[in-house]
Amino acid sequence: MNEATCALVLAAGKGTRMHARDLPKVMMPILGEPMLWYVQRALTPSFAEHVYTVVGFGADRVAEAFPESTERFVHQEEQLGTGHALVTAWPRLKAAGYRYVVVVNGDTPLLRGASVDRLVEEATARKAALAFLSVEAPEPNAFGRVLRDADGRVSAIIEAKDYDPEKHGPAPREVNAGLYFLDMQFVEPLLGWLGNTNAAREYYITDLVELAIADNNLVLAVNCGEDPTLMGINTPLELSDAEELLRAEIAHQHLNHGVRLHNPAGCRIGPRVTIKPGAQITGPCELMGETVIDQDVVVDAFCHVMESWLSQGAQVRHFSHLEKAEVGPGCVVGPYARLRPGAILEEKAKVGNFVEMKKAVLGKGSKASHLTYLGDAEIGEGVNIGAGTITCNYDGVRKHKTVIGNGAFIGSNTALVAPVTVGAGALVGAGSTITKDVAQGSLALTRAEQRQLPRRK
Ligand code: UD1
Ligand code: CA
Repeated sequence: MNEATCALVLAAGKGTRMHARDLPKVMMPILGEPMLWYVQRALTPSFAEHVYTVVGFGADRVAEAFPESTERFVHQEEQLGTGHALVTAWPRLKAAGYRYVVVVNGDTPLLRGASVDRLVEEATARKAALAFLSVEAPEPNAFGRVLRDADGRVSAIIEAKDYDPEKHGPAPREVNAGLYFLDMQFVEPLLGWLGNTNAAREYYITDLVELAIADNNLVLAVNCGEDPTLMGINTPLELSDAEELLRAEIAHQHLNHGVRLHNPAGCRIGPRVTIKPGAQITGPCELMGETVIDQDVVVDAFCHVMESWLSQGAQVRHFSHLEKAEVGPGCVVGPYARLRPGAILEEKAKVGNFVEMKKAVLGKGSKASHLTYLGDAEIGEGVNIGAGTITCNYDGVRKHKTVIGNGAFIGSNTALVAPVTVGAGALVGAGSTITKDVAQGSLALTRAEQRQLPRRK
Protein backbone atom coordinates (compact mmCIF):
# COMPACT_ATOMS: atom_id res chain seq x y z
CA MET A 1 0.00 0.00 0.00
CA ASN A 2 1.35 3.45 -0.73
CA GLU A 3 2.45 5.60 2.18
CA ALA A 4 -0.47 7.99 1.78
CA THR A 5 -2.97 5.29 2.74
CA CYS A 6 -3.77 4.10 6.24
CA ALA A 7 -6.29 1.70 7.70
CA LEU A 8 -8.76 2.56 10.44
CA VAL A 9 -10.39 -0.26 12.38
CA LEU A 10 -13.63 0.61 14.16
CA ALA A 11 -13.54 -1.34 17.41
CA ALA A 12 -15.13 0.88 20.04
CA GLY A 13 -18.58 -0.69 20.18
CA LYS A 14 -19.88 -2.81 23.02
CA GLY A 15 -21.57 -5.45 20.92
CA THR A 16 -24.86 -5.40 22.83
CA ARG A 17 -26.29 -8.20 20.70
CA MET A 18 -23.55 -10.53 21.98
CA HIS A 19 -24.75 -10.32 25.59
CA ALA A 20 -21.19 -10.51 26.87
CA ARG A 21 -21.37 -7.99 29.70
CA ASP A 22 -17.90 -6.39 30.03
CA LEU A 23 -16.11 -8.00 27.13
CA PRO A 24 -16.02 -5.71 24.09
CA LYS A 25 -17.17 -7.50 20.95
CA VAL A 26 -13.83 -7.26 19.16
CA MET A 27 -12.22 -9.12 22.07
CA MET A 28 -14.50 -12.13 21.72
CA PRO A 29 -12.38 -15.15 20.83
CA ILE A 30 -12.52 -17.25 17.71
CA LEU A 31 -10.36 -20.36 18.13
CA GLY A 32 -8.63 -18.67 21.02
CA GLU A 33 -7.76 -15.34 19.34
CA PRO A 34 -9.79 -12.15 19.65
CA MET A 35 -11.75 -11.06 16.56
CA LEU A 36 -9.56 -7.98 16.34
CA TRP A 37 -6.45 -10.14 16.01
CA TYR A 38 -7.81 -11.55 12.75
CA VAL A 39 -8.63 -8.11 11.39
CA GLN A 40 -5.12 -6.92 12.21
CA ARG A 41 -3.66 -10.00 10.58
CA ALA A 42 -5.54 -9.26 7.37
CA LEU A 43 -4.42 -5.63 7.34
CA THR A 44 -0.79 -5.88 8.45
CA PRO A 45 0.75 -7.20 5.20
CA SER A 46 -0.57 -4.20 3.24
CA PHE A 47 -0.53 -1.48 5.87
CA ALA A 48 2.31 -2.46 8.24
CA GLU A 49 2.37 0.15 10.99
CA HIS A 50 -0.26 2.31 9.35
CA VAL A 51 -3.18 0.62 11.09
CA TYR A 52 -5.15 2.84 13.51
CA THR A 53 -7.85 1.50 15.80
CA VAL A 54 -10.81 3.31 17.33
CA VAL A 55 -11.37 1.93 20.83
CA GLY A 56 -13.92 2.88 23.47
CA PHE A 57 -15.97 0.32 25.32
CA GLY A 58 -13.55 -1.93 27.24
CA ALA A 59 -10.53 -0.07 25.81
CA ASP A 60 -8.32 -1.32 28.65
CA ARG A 61 -8.98 -4.92 27.73
CA VAL A 62 -8.14 -4.19 24.10
CA ALA A 63 -4.95 -2.36 25.08
CA GLU A 64 -3.88 -5.25 27.30
CA ALA A 65 -4.26 -7.73 24.45
CA PHE A 66 -2.58 -5.53 21.81
CA PRO A 67 0.12 -3.59 23.67
CA GLU A 68 2.13 -2.99 20.51
CA SER A 69 -0.84 -1.28 18.83
CA THR A 70 -1.81 1.19 21.55
CA GLU A 71 0.37 3.88 20.00
CA ARG A 72 -2.15 4.07 17.18
CA PHE A 73 -5.30 3.79 19.27
CA VAL A 74 -7.86 6.57 19.03
CA HIS A 75 -10.28 6.86 21.95
CA GLN A 76 -13.95 7.34 21.24
CA GLU A 77 -15.28 8.08 24.71
CA GLU A 78 -18.94 7.77 23.79
CA GLN A 79 -19.99 5.35 21.10
CA LEU A 80 -22.32 7.49 19.06
CA GLY A 81 -22.06 5.48 15.87
CA THR A 82 -19.66 4.45 13.12
CA GLY A 83 -19.78 7.95 11.57
CA HIS A 84 -18.88 9.46 14.91
CA ALA A 85 -16.00 6.98 15.27
CA LEU A 86 -14.63 8.15 11.93
CA VAL A 87 -15.00 11.83 12.86
CA THR A 88 -13.20 11.15 16.15
CA ALA A 89 -10.20 9.61 14.39
CA TRP A 90 -10.09 12.10 11.51
CA PRO A 91 -7.80 14.79 13.04
CA ARG A 92 -5.27 12.12 13.99
CA LEU A 93 -5.16 10.69 10.46
CA LYS A 94 -4.91 14.13 8.92
CA ALA A 95 -2.12 15.17 11.25
CA ALA A 96 -0.22 12.04 10.21
CA GLY A 97 -0.48 13.26 6.60
CA TYR A 98 -2.61 10.52 5.01
CA ARG A 99 -4.59 11.16 1.86
CA TYR A 100 -6.60 7.92 1.79
CA VAL A 101 -8.08 5.81 4.52
CA VAL A 102 -9.49 2.30 4.40
CA VAL A 103 -12.09 1.99 7.17
CA VAL A 104 -12.79 -1.54 8.41
CA ASN A 105 -15.41 -2.70 10.91
CA GLY A 106 -13.60 -4.52 13.72
CA ASP A 107 -16.26 -7.24 13.79
CA THR A 108 -15.31 -8.75 10.41
CA PRO A 109 -12.75 -11.35 11.51
CA LEU A 110 -12.81 -13.54 8.41
CA LEU A 111 -11.67 -10.62 6.28
CA ARG A 112 -8.92 -11.42 3.81
CA GLY A 113 -6.17 -9.06 2.78
CA ALA A 114 -7.09 -9.73 -0.86
CA SER A 115 -10.54 -8.18 -0.33
CA VAL A 116 -8.98 -5.01 1.01
CA ASP A 117 -6.52 -4.90 -1.88
CA ARG A 118 -9.37 -5.29 -4.35
CA LEU A 119 -11.27 -2.39 -2.80
CA VAL A 120 -8.23 -0.13 -2.94
CA GLU A 121 -7.33 -1.15 -6.48
CA GLU A 122 -10.80 -0.55 -7.89
CA ALA A 123 -11.25 2.72 -6.02
CA THR A 124 -7.86 4.00 -7.10
CA ALA A 125 -8.26 2.92 -10.73
CA ARG A 126 -11.60 4.74 -10.98
CA LYS A 127 -10.47 7.67 -8.82
CA ALA A 128 -13.48 7.27 -6.56
CA ALA A 129 -14.00 9.67 -3.67
CA LEU A 130 -15.65 6.86 -1.73
CA ALA A 131 -15.84 3.14 -2.41
CA PHE A 132 -17.09 0.25 -0.33
CA LEU A 133 -17.41 -3.51 -0.59
CA SER A 134 -20.84 -5.07 -0.85
CA VAL A 135 -21.97 -8.70 -0.64
CA GLU A 136 -25.01 -10.69 -1.66
CA ALA A 137 -26.38 -11.84 1.68
CA PRO A 138 -28.51 -14.99 1.91
CA GLU A 139 -30.36 -13.15 4.71
CA PRO A 140 -29.89 -9.39 4.79
CA ASN A 141 -30.56 -9.41 8.56
CA ALA A 142 -29.11 -6.38 10.30
CA PHE A 143 -26.91 -5.29 7.40
CA GLY A 144 -27.17 -1.98 5.58
CA ARG A 145 -29.00 -2.37 2.26
CA VAL A 146 -27.33 -1.07 -0.89
CA LEU A 147 -29.64 0.92 -3.13
CA ARG A 148 -28.85 1.40 -6.82
CA ASP A 149 -30.50 3.60 -9.42
CA ALA A 150 -31.95 2.44 -12.75
CA ASP A 151 -28.46 2.50 -14.30
CA GLY A 152 -27.06 0.28 -11.57
CA ARG A 153 -25.16 3.09 -9.91
CA VAL A 154 -25.15 3.05 -6.13
CA SER A 155 -27.37 5.73 -4.65
CA ALA A 156 -27.43 5.04 -0.90
CA ILE A 157 -26.90 2.61 1.95
CA ILE A 158 -30.02 2.34 4.10
CA GLU A 159 -29.58 0.73 7.51
CA ALA A 160 -31.86 -2.21 8.33
CA LYS A 161 -33.61 -0.32 11.10
CA ASP A 162 -34.42 2.56 8.77
CA TYR A 163 -35.42 0.49 5.77
CA ASP A 164 -38.97 1.17 4.68
CA PRO A 165 -40.12 -0.98 1.73
CA GLU A 166 -42.83 1.55 0.90
CA LYS A 167 -40.30 4.28 0.51
CA HIS A 168 -37.23 2.32 -0.63
CA GLY A 169 -38.83 -0.56 -2.52
CA PRO A 170 -38.34 -4.29 -1.84
CA ALA A 171 -35.11 -4.84 0.09
CA PRO A 172 -32.21 -5.86 -2.14
CA ARG A 173 -29.98 -8.79 -1.21
CA GLU A 174 -26.94 -6.62 -1.75
CA VAL A 175 -25.68 -5.36 1.60
CA ASN A 176 -22.82 -3.25 2.86
CA ALA A 177 -19.81 -5.25 4.12
CA GLY A 178 -18.51 -2.43 6.29
CA LEU A 179 -15.24 -1.78 4.42
CA TYR A 180 -14.73 1.64 2.93
CA PHE A 181 -12.08 3.46 0.96
CA LEU A 182 -12.19 7.21 1.46
CA ASP A 183 -10.32 9.92 -0.38
CA MET A 184 -9.97 12.23 2.60
CA GLN A 185 -9.78 15.38 0.52
CA PHE A 186 -13.27 14.81 -0.88
CA VAL A 187 -14.83 13.30 2.21
CA GLU A 188 -13.69 15.91 4.71
CA PRO A 189 -16.23 18.58 3.68
CA LEU A 190 -19.02 16.02 4.13
CA LEU A 191 -18.26 15.04 7.73
CA GLY A 192 -20.04 18.06 9.17
CA TRP A 193 -23.24 16.94 7.45
CA LEU A 194 -23.50 13.62 9.24
CA GLY A 195 -26.54 13.64 11.49
CA ASN A 196 -28.26 11.23 13.83
CA THR A 197 -31.90 11.64 12.94
CA ASN A 198 -32.48 7.97 12.30
CA ALA A 199 -33.93 4.92 14.01
CA ALA A 200 -30.78 4.22 16.06
CA ARG A 201 -30.06 7.90 16.89
CA GLU A 202 -26.50 7.21 15.77
CA TYR A 203 -24.13 8.92 13.37
CA TYR A 204 -23.81 6.46 10.48
CA ILE A 205 -20.65 6.28 8.37
CA THR A 206 -22.95 4.88 5.67
CA ASP A 207 -24.67 8.26 5.28
CA LEU A 208 -21.48 9.45 3.57
CA VAL A 209 -22.61 7.59 0.46
CA GLU A 210 -25.63 9.81 -0.16
CA LEU A 211 -23.74 12.91 0.94
CA ALA A 212 -20.86 12.19 -1.44
CA ILE A 213 -23.21 11.58 -4.35
CA ALA A 214 -25.14 14.78 -3.60
CA ASP A 215 -21.81 16.61 -3.72
CA ASN A 216 -21.10 15.16 -7.19
CA ASN A 217 -18.40 12.73 -6.14
CA LEU A 218 -17.86 9.32 -7.65
CA VAL A 219 -19.05 6.59 -5.28
CA LEU A 220 -18.43 2.92 -6.04
CA ALA A 221 -19.94 -0.21 -4.53
CA VAL A 222 -17.60 -3.10 -5.32
CA ASN A 223 -19.85 -6.16 -5.31
CA CYS A 224 -18.08 -9.32 -4.07
CA GLY A 225 -21.05 -11.66 -4.59
CA GLU A 226 -21.75 -14.20 -1.89
CA ASP A 227 -18.72 -14.01 0.35
CA PRO A 228 -18.99 -15.26 3.93
CA THR A 229 -15.55 -13.81 4.75
CA LEU A 230 -17.04 -10.34 4.48
CA MET A 231 -19.94 -10.82 6.86
CA GLY A 232 -19.84 -8.80 10.06
CA ILE A 233 -20.54 -10.57 13.32
CA ASN A 234 -23.20 -9.26 15.66
CA THR A 235 -24.78 -12.27 17.34
CA PRO A 236 -23.59 -15.48 19.04
CA LEU A 237 -24.99 -17.45 16.09
CA GLU A 238 -22.97 -15.43 13.57
CA LEU A 239 -19.88 -15.80 15.76
CA SER A 240 -20.29 -19.55 15.95
CA ASP A 241 -20.86 -19.82 12.18
CA ALA A 242 -17.69 -17.82 11.53
CA GLU A 243 -15.71 -19.89 14.00
CA GLU A 244 -16.90 -23.10 12.37
CA LEU A 245 -15.89 -21.85 8.92
CA LEU A 246 -12.42 -20.98 10.10
CA ARG A 247 -12.10 -24.17 12.14
CA ALA A 248 -12.89 -26.35 9.14
CA GLU A 249 -10.50 -24.36 6.95
CA ILE A 250 -7.60 -24.71 9.40
CA ALA A 251 -8.22 -28.44 9.94
CA HIS A 252 -8.24 -28.88 6.18
CA GLN A 253 -4.95 -27.00 5.81
CA HIS A 254 -3.26 -29.28 8.36
CA LEU A 255 -4.59 -32.40 6.65
CA ASN A 256 -3.31 -31.12 3.33
CA HIS A 257 0.04 -30.54 4.90
CA GLY A 258 0.44 -34.14 6.09
CA VAL A 259 -0.93 -33.93 9.63
CA ARG A 260 -3.05 -36.94 10.54
CA LEU A 261 -6.28 -35.70 12.08
CA HIS A 262 -8.50 -38.68 12.79
CA ASN A 263 -11.55 -36.59 13.59
CA PRO A 264 -11.06 -33.28 11.79
CA ALA A 265 -14.59 -32.15 12.57
CA GLY A 266 -13.77 -32.33 16.28
CA CYS A 267 -10.42 -30.51 16.11
CA ARG A 268 -10.37 -26.88 17.17
CA ILE A 269 -6.94 -25.68 16.12
CA GLY A 270 -6.01 -22.04 16.57
CA PRO A 271 -4.48 -19.98 13.75
CA ARG A 272 -1.07 -19.70 15.45
CA VAL A 273 -0.57 -23.43 16.00
CA THR A 274 2.21 -25.17 14.06
CA ILE A 275 1.93 -28.92 13.47
CA LYS A 276 4.59 -30.85 11.60
CA PRO A 277 3.63 -33.45 9.00
CA GLY A 278 3.33 -36.92 10.48
CA ALA A 279 1.97 -35.76 13.83
CA GLN A 280 -1.33 -37.39 14.79
CA ILE A 281 -4.34 -36.03 16.59
CA THR A 282 -6.48 -39.05 17.30
CA GLY A 283 -9.78 -37.39 18.24
CA PRO A 284 -11.53 -34.18 19.25
CA CYS A 285 -9.00 -31.74 20.72
CA GLU A 286 -8.34 -28.07 21.35
CA LEU A 287 -4.92 -26.84 20.30
CA MET A 288 -4.53 -23.13 20.84
CA GLY A 289 -2.15 -20.19 21.04
CA GLU A 290 1.42 -20.43 19.82
CA THR A 291 1.60 -24.20 20.22
CA VAL A 292 4.18 -26.21 18.30
CA ILE A 293 3.68 -29.92 17.66
CA ASP A 294 6.65 -31.69 16.18
CA GLN A 295 6.94 -34.76 13.98
CA ASP A 296 5.61 -38.10 15.20
CA VAL A 297 3.86 -36.57 18.19
CA VAL A 298 0.55 -38.22 19.09
CA VAL A 299 -2.11 -36.20 20.87
CA ASP A 300 -5.03 -38.38 21.90
CA ALA A 301 -8.66 -37.35 22.05
CA PHE A 302 -10.04 -34.74 24.44
CA CYS A 303 -6.81 -32.92 25.17
CA HIS A 304 -6.48 -29.17 25.58
CA VAL A 305 -3.08 -27.82 24.58
CA MET A 306 -2.39 -24.11 24.93
CA GLU A 307 0.87 -22.22 24.16
CA SER A 308 2.88 -25.40 24.52
CA TRP A 309 5.75 -27.12 22.79
CA LEU A 310 5.60 -30.86 22.09
CA SER A 311 8.84 -32.29 20.76
CA GLN A 312 9.38 -35.15 18.40
CA GLY A 313 7.76 -38.44 19.32
CA ALA A 314 6.05 -37.15 22.47
CA GLN A 315 2.72 -38.74 23.34
CA VAL A 316 -0.06 -36.92 25.08
CA ARG A 317 -2.71 -39.35 26.21
CA HIS A 318 -6.44 -38.77 26.50
CA PHE A 319 -7.94 -35.98 28.64
CA SER A 320 -4.71 -34.12 29.36
CA HIS A 321 -4.55 -30.37 29.89
CA LEU A 322 -1.40 -28.46 28.95
CA GLU A 323 -0.77 -24.76 29.25
CA LYS A 324 2.61 -23.08 28.58
CA ALA A 325 4.34 -26.42 28.98
CA GLU A 326 7.34 -27.94 27.22
CA VAL A 327 7.31 -31.64 26.55
CA GLY A 328 10.64 -33.10 25.40
CA PRO A 329 11.25 -35.77 22.77
CA GLY A 330 9.79 -39.18 23.51
CA CYS A 331 7.94 -38.08 26.66
CA VAL A 332 4.61 -39.58 27.71
CA VAL A 333 1.97 -37.39 29.32
CA GLY A 334 -1.34 -38.56 30.74
CA PRO A 335 -3.99 -39.82 30.45
CA TYR A 336 -5.50 -37.17 32.74
CA ALA A 337 -2.35 -35.14 33.31
CA ARG A 338 -2.26 -31.43 33.97
CA LEU A 339 0.78 -29.42 32.94
CA ARG A 340 0.52 -25.81 34.04
CA PRO A 341 2.74 -22.88 33.02
CA GLY A 342 6.43 -23.61 33.39
CA ALA A 343 6.10 -27.38 33.38
CA ILE A 344 9.14 -28.75 31.52
CA LEU A 345 9.62 -32.43 30.74
CA GLU A 346 13.04 -33.37 29.49
CA GLU A 347 13.65 -36.20 27.06
CA LYS A 348 11.68 -39.41 27.74
CA ALA A 349 10.27 -38.19 31.03
CA LYS A 350 6.87 -39.54 31.99
CA VAL A 351 3.93 -37.99 33.76
CA GLY A 352 0.94 -40.22 34.38
CA ASN A 353 -2.65 -39.88 35.48
CA PHE A 354 -3.71 -37.19 37.93
CA VAL A 355 -0.29 -35.61 38.04
CA GLU A 356 -0.14 -31.83 38.14
CA MET A 357 3.03 -29.86 37.38
CA LYS A 358 3.62 -26.13 37.64
CA LYS A 359 6.96 -24.30 37.21
CA ALA A 360 8.74 -27.59 37.54
CA VAL A 361 11.38 -29.42 35.55
CA LEU A 362 11.28 -33.20 35.35
CA GLY A 363 14.67 -34.41 34.14
CA LYS A 364 15.56 -36.88 31.44
CA GLY A 365 13.92 -40.26 31.90
CA SER A 366 12.33 -39.32 35.24
CA LYS A 367 8.84 -40.51 36.10
CA ALA A 368 5.88 -39.31 38.12
CA SER A 369 3.33 -41.88 37.19
CA HIS A 370 0.37 -41.31 39.50
CA LEU A 371 -1.47 -38.78 41.69
CA THR A 372 1.25 -36.20 42.28
CA TYR A 373 1.75 -32.45 42.57
CA LEU A 374 5.10 -31.02 41.50
CA GLY A 375 5.24 -27.23 41.89
CA ASP A 376 8.35 -24.99 41.95
CA ALA A 377 10.54 -28.04 41.64
CA GLU A 378 13.75 -29.04 39.92
CA ILE A 379 13.99 -32.77 39.45
CA GLY A 380 17.08 -34.39 37.99
CA GLU A 381 17.50 -37.34 35.65
CA GLY A 382 16.32 -40.88 36.27
CA VAL A 383 14.25 -39.93 39.31
CA ASN A 384 11.22 -41.92 40.37
CA ILE A 385 8.46 -39.98 42.08
CA GLY A 386 6.10 -42.36 43.88
CA ALA A 387 2.33 -42.14 43.77
CA GLY A 388 0.82 -39.44 45.94
CA THR A 389 4.00 -37.35 46.27
CA ILE A 390 3.34 -33.69 46.97
CA THR A 391 5.75 -30.77 46.88
CA CYS A 392 4.43 -28.49 49.63
CA ASN A 393 5.60 -25.32 47.89
CA TYR A 394 3.40 -22.71 49.56
CA ASP A 395 3.61 -21.61 53.17
CA GLY A 396 0.58 -19.35 52.95
CA VAL A 397 2.69 -16.33 51.99
CA ARG A 398 5.48 -17.38 49.67
CA LYS A 399 6.39 -20.16 47.26
CA HIS A 400 9.47 -22.27 47.93
CA LYS A 401 11.54 -24.61 45.83
CA THR A 402 12.12 -28.35 45.98
CA VAL A 403 15.28 -29.79 44.42
CA ILE A 404 15.70 -33.51 43.78
CA GLY A 405 19.02 -34.88 42.55
CA ASN A 406 19.69 -37.43 39.82
CA GLY A 407 18.64 -41.00 40.47
CA ALA A 408 16.73 -40.24 43.68
CA PHE A 409 13.73 -42.38 44.61
CA ILE A 410 10.80 -40.77 46.38
CA GLY A 411 8.48 -43.29 48.02
CA SER A 412 4.73 -43.09 47.70
CA ASN A 413 2.72 -40.57 49.66
CA THR A 414 5.67 -38.35 50.51
CA ALA A 415 5.22 -34.70 51.43
CA LEU A 416 8.27 -32.61 50.50
CA VAL A 417 8.01 -29.43 52.57
CA ALA A 418 9.90 -26.76 50.60
CA PRO A 419 12.45 -25.28 50.65
CA VAL A 420 14.06 -28.68 50.64
CA THR A 421 16.69 -30.65 48.73
CA VAL A 422 16.89 -34.38 48.25
CA GLY A 423 20.41 -35.34 47.17
CA ALA A 424 21.30 -37.51 44.19
CA GLY A 425 20.70 -41.21 44.67
CA ALA A 426 18.84 -40.68 47.98
CA LEU A 427 15.82 -42.76 48.93
CA VAL A 428 12.83 -41.39 50.78
CA GLY A 429 10.63 -44.00 52.46
CA ALA A 430 6.94 -44.11 51.64
CA GLY A 431 4.67 -41.93 53.74
CA SER A 432 7.42 -39.54 54.86
CA THR A 433 7.07 -35.85 55.53
CA ILE A 434 10.42 -34.37 54.57
CA THR A 435 11.18 -31.01 56.18
CA LYS A 436 14.99 -31.14 56.19
CA ASP A 437 17.46 -31.68 53.36
CA VAL A 438 18.28 -35.32 52.58
CA ALA A 439 21.97 -36.03 51.94
CA GLN A 440 23.01 -37.62 48.71
CA GLY A 441 22.88 -41.41 48.69
CA SER A 442 21.12 -41.61 52.11
CA LEU A 443 17.80 -43.07 53.22
CA ALA A 444 15.30 -40.74 54.87
CA LEU A 445 12.27 -41.98 56.78
CA THR A 446 9.86 -40.03 58.96
CA ARG A 447 7.27 -42.70 59.62
CA ALA A 448 6.20 -43.59 63.14
CA GLU A 449 6.88 -47.25 63.79
CA GLN A 450 4.00 -49.64 63.29
CA ARG A 451 2.69 -51.16 66.51
CA GLN A 452 0.66 -54.27 66.97
CA LEU A 453 -1.89 -54.37 69.81
CA PRO A 454 -4.70 -56.81 70.63
CA ARG A 455 -7.98 -55.75 69.05
CA ARG A 456 -10.57 -54.44 71.54
CA LYS A 457 -13.65 -56.63 71.74
C1 UD1 B 1 -22.54 -1.67 10.07
C2 UD1 B 1 -23.03 -0.79 8.93
C3 UD1 B 1 -23.91 -1.64 8.01
C4 UD1 B 1 -23.12 -2.84 7.49
C5 UD1 B 1 -22.52 -3.63 8.66
C6 UD1 B 1 -21.56 -4.66 8.09
C7 UD1 B 1 -23.25 1.43 9.92
C8 UD1 B 1 -24.16 2.48 10.39
N1 UD1 B 1 -23.79 0.34 9.44
O1 UD1 B 1 -23.68 -2.04 10.80
O2 UD1 B 1 -24.33 -0.86 6.90
O3 UD1 B 1 -23.96 -3.65 6.71
O4 UD1 B 1 -21.81 -2.78 9.56
O5 UD1 B 1 -21.06 -5.48 9.08
O6 UD1 B 1 -22.05 1.60 9.97
N2 UD1 B 1 -18.22 1.04 16.31
C9 UD1 B 1 -17.41 2.01 16.86
N3 UD1 B 1 -17.99 3.11 17.42
C10 UD1 B 1 -19.33 3.29 17.46
C11 UD1 B 1 -20.16 2.31 16.89
C12 UD1 B 1 -19.57 1.20 16.31
O7 UD1 B 1 -16.19 1.88 16.87
O8 UD1 B 1 -19.77 4.34 18.00
C13 UD1 B 1 -17.60 -0.15 15.71
C14 UD1 B 1 -18.08 -1.46 16.34
O9 UD1 B 1 -17.24 -1.84 17.40
C15 UD1 B 1 -18.03 -2.43 15.19
C16 UD1 B 1 -18.16 -1.56 13.95
O10 UD1 B 1 -17.97 -0.22 14.37
O11 UD1 B 1 -16.82 -3.13 15.13
C17 UD1 B 1 -19.54 -1.70 13.30
O12 UD1 B 1 -20.53 -1.34 14.24
P1 UD1 B 1 -21.88 -2.15 14.40
O13 UD1 B 1 -22.68 -1.51 15.46
O14 UD1 B 1 -21.59 -3.58 14.53
O15 UD1 B 1 -22.55 -1.85 13.00
P2 UD1 B 1 -23.66 -2.70 12.26
O16 UD1 B 1 -24.97 -2.43 12.89
O17 UD1 B 1 -23.23 -4.10 12.15
CA1 CA C 1 -21.59 -5.21 12.96
